[in-house]
Amino acid sequence: MTEPDRIPAADLPPGAVHRVGDWAVGNRVGRYFAVSRRCRHQLADLSEGTVDADGCLVCPWHQSRYDVRTGEMVEGPHGFLGYHGPTPGYTQFVRAYARILRLRVRRALRRGDDVVLE
Ligand code: FES
Repeated sequence: MTEPDRIPAADLPPGAVHRVGDWAVGNRVGRYFAVSRRCRHQLADLSEGTVDADGCLVCPWHQSRYDVRTGEMVEGPHGFLGYHGPTPGYTQFVRAYARILRLRVRRALRRGDDVVLE
């Protein structure tokens, strides 16, 4: 079975994020992006995340933030498992290993009525 590699552009207004196969595809202030879907912290599905005011992809579980242009985690998690709150040392530790284990990045371009992953 081949992986779907496109989504209707109408489904991706600014700020939206959707799942396209193994990818979280979104619209960052008018620019489309595609990154691998699993958060480097505890594997939350980033296609259920949000785009913040800085254009970063925010994990739905503990709010780690990712630069979708590079796949780098730019802010670590605020919690773990079911806990949501400050974890200063742990947050820095996760961010340190996530620098090495960046999200994969794929180009996402508008082609006609669709956004296509290259
Ligand atoms: S699973 Fe993404 S921040 Fe915890």
